[in-house]
Amino acid sequence: MSLKGRDFLTLKDFTGQEIVDMVNLGIDLKAKQKAGILTPVLAGKTLGMIFQKSSTRTRVSFEVGMYQLGGSALFLSTNDLQIGRGEPIKDTARVLSRYVDGIMIRTYSHADVEELAAYADVPVINGLTDDYHPTQVVADLITIQEHKGQLKGIKFAYVGDGNNMTHSLMIGGAKVGMDVKVACPEGYMPNPDIVALAQQYAAESGGSVTVMHDPKEAIAGVDVVYTDTWASMGQEAEKEVRQKAFAGYTVDSAMMALAKPDAIFMHCLPAYRGYEVTDEVMESAQSVVFDEAENRLHAHKAIMATVM
Ligand code: CP
Ligand code: NVA
Repeated sequence: MSLKGRDFLTLKDFTGQEIVDMVNLGIDLKAKQKAGILTPVLAGKTLGMIFQKSSTRTRVSFEVGMYQLGGSALFLSTNDLQIGRGEPIKDTARVLSRYVDGIMIRTYSHADVEELAAYADVPVINGLTDDYHPTQVVADLITIQEHKGQLKGIKFAYVGDGNNMTHSLMIGGAKVGMDVKVACPEGYMPNPDIVALAQQYAAESGGSVTVMHDPKEAIAGVDVVYTDTWASMGQEAEKEVRQKAFAGYTVDSAMMALAKPDAIFMHCLPAYRGYEVTDEVMESAQSVVFDEAENRLHAHKAIMATVM
């Protein structure tokens, strides 16, 4: 069934097979790009990209990705859009829909993205909210498939803050049949409703989702170790409190030694060395963080080619 016209707000809205199809399409588009084969499947189309938060990877990879698909992309900062001066999201959605063929948005409130999608006539892609970061997970699954040769049955550990990344990794991982373990300190656990939902998906796919406090227990014997910043965008004021709360959750070489010897280390980036991860782990042979960043480009092309 074609997914053209669908919004890409969270991975909840896609089946495990649809996610795997996007992963495989991303791998195929990457191979074609490397071979110099053009893939202008969105020729003549335009993506509007609304940013209310900072970005390096998401902005550049969506813009370059759209170019590689034969279309063009517009960077729209909320500092410059009339949204910043109070124009309602529902009006912005309908106006932009008259100009562009798809809208990517990075903002704080997930409800704002849902409202944008409800009023837009074109597909809306979530480029990160306080609750979810689904485009990152498609790139992460491409990276795991490339390095481990499979997704189903992969043992995956996430250590650190139970944040937007955690939520999207649990949902995506569960849908494709991975065994996902999440270790976060008390007070920084992922949203229990999303944990329960991910556990339901895992029961259907043959995977599992387990949440705990002990990072060593989570990492023991896994194929993939993942972490993210302890203070996400919008939480800058909590930085010091969080640094204390997350003591013992740094992914260092001793922690990595608990995983399988051939385990890979992943991070969505930007990384803060000395906090959630050491420089040694970031720069180690196990670290695939730059492959992961590269795969944002091909993941986003796959997502756009699927829904636009
Ligand atoms: N990982 C990620 O989304 O990076 P940016 O914030 O640079 O887009
Ligand atoms: N959790 C981080 C991810 C950055 C890509 C944040 O929201 O800031």
